[in-house]
Amino acid sequence: MLAAELEAGDVIALTGDLGAGKTTLAKAIAKGLGVEETLTSPTFTILQEYESGRLPLYHFDVYRVHSEEELFEIGMEDYFYRSGVCLIEWADLIEDLLPENRRTIKISRGENESERICEIS
Ligand SMILES: Nc1ncnc2c1ncn2[C@@H]1O[C@H](COP(=O)(O)OP(=O)(O)OP(=O)(O)O)[C@@H](O)[C@H]1O
Ligand SMILES: [Mg+2]
Repeated sequence: MLAAELEAGDVIALTGDLGAGKTTLAKAIAKGLGVEETLTSPTFTILQEYESGRLPLYHFDVYRVHSEEELFEIGMEDYFYRSGVCLIEWADLIEDLLPENRRTIKISRGENESERICEIS
């Protein structure tokens, strides 16, 4: 549903506490884009690229990033302007570096373990 509306150049910030469900939502978006590989959490690599879907998907997890330099080294900014979709877990940690025209999906837990609330802005 969400994946069907995505266009080249979209940047989506995924925020929410540890274990809120950011990677799970990223997996669903990857599937919706037709990515063939199973999306895995890029925590230790910062970035995973998937080219097999309707649009290239760039999946970032900036939880373990210690300095802006690490992001410059992988050329994060360039990815924002490429013709793919950027999904950024823990985007709130690098808010100043994100483009203005991003969308944010904030995930929080609901009343029971199987419930999650997504606020899109
Ligand atoms: N909508 C949901 N309903 C029920 N359980 C969920 C939902 N989304 C995620 N979970 C469960 O919550 C756990 C953590 O999910 P996930 O790894 O996606 O979180 P995360 O926000 O990426 O965590 P991290 O901050 O460590 O990157 C997983 O066990 C997952 O199965
Ligand atoms: Mg995650």
